[in-house]
Amino acid sequence: MSNAATADNTDQTPITGPGEEPMVMPERRDLHFLPPKERINDWHKLGPHMTQFMNALSLFFPAGERLFIDAVREYRDQIPDPDLKKAATAFIGQEAMHSREHIEYNQLMAEAGLPAEKLDAFVWSLLDFLKDYTPGFMPLSATIALEHFTALMGGFVLDHPEVMQGSQEDYQRMWEWHALEEVEHKAVCFDVWEKCVGRGPGAYARRTVGMVAATAIFWPLVVAFYLRMARASEECRQEGWRGHLTVLKTLFGKPGILRRQIPEWLAYFQYSFHPWQQNNSHHLQKLEQLAEEAEAAYSTHH
Ligand SMILES: [Fe+2]
Ligand SMILES: [Fe+2]
Repeated sequence: MSNAATADNTDQTPITGPGEEPMVMPERRDLHFLPPKERINDWHKLGPHMTQFMNALSLFFPAGERLFIDAVREYRDQIPDPDLKKAATAFIGQEAMHSREHIEYNQLMAEAGLPAEKLDAFVWSLLDFLKDYTPGFMPLSATIALEHFTALMGGFVLDHPEVMQGSQEDYQRMWEWHALEEVEHKAVCFDVWEKCVGRGPGAYARRTVGMVAATAIFWPLVVAFYLRMARASEECRQEGWRGHLTVLKTLFGKPGILRRQIPEWLAYFQYSFHPWQQNNSHHLQKLEQLAEEAEAAYSTHH
């Protein structure tokens, strides 16, 4: 039975499977956030630069999540395990909801005069280029690598709520929702890879190639996007260069969003790696309450 599967997980309680790894069935949640546009340049409690760092990450989601969805769809008919097939469908549904919400969020950036449309278009054309000029296994290989990043980032935000607490609450809630669902579905694409591409040395080589490529392309682009966004933001100009130090400290010092992910990033290169070996499924108990809060907040605002 697949690690992504469980027959009954309606109460959000993680169920431990054969290998002590939880078996989690993700669920598509049709939630709306629409955070306030007047805070788009300064919603993070650590100030305008940290805001633009998170905004820059958001710019990767519409095109990135489209890549993930298409990559999994390519293999969906070949998935032998019905539970995994169900999980793949739920994964596609979750990413489609994330994408929809991030498109609206990114639109707020464009309306505020930030270069969101240009940067978003760049990601679309880069991913189209990669799809056209790399071997056929690359979209799913890149997807499982990037899903490892989103699961690590999401897991970090959940392990260290102080990173987001005190920020504007609609932005905070939206990122927390995304973080939770990234953890919830973190093994789905990986399981699809193992069932459809395989677990042998060839499949291992191809998934490590995907991780090396994803790391080499994604993180330099995040830095470039962040710098471009910070340059365009009046609030960042007012905050001055110290804002960059705040971001550096948060990523590499304390709490060290990226620094602390290095061991878990390296774990991906183990031959027997599986995403649920890093078992943080206890966070998923928060999903139900968060969904209720999001629905209540959205209905009061609209
Ligand atoms: Fe997502
Ligand atoms: Fe994801």
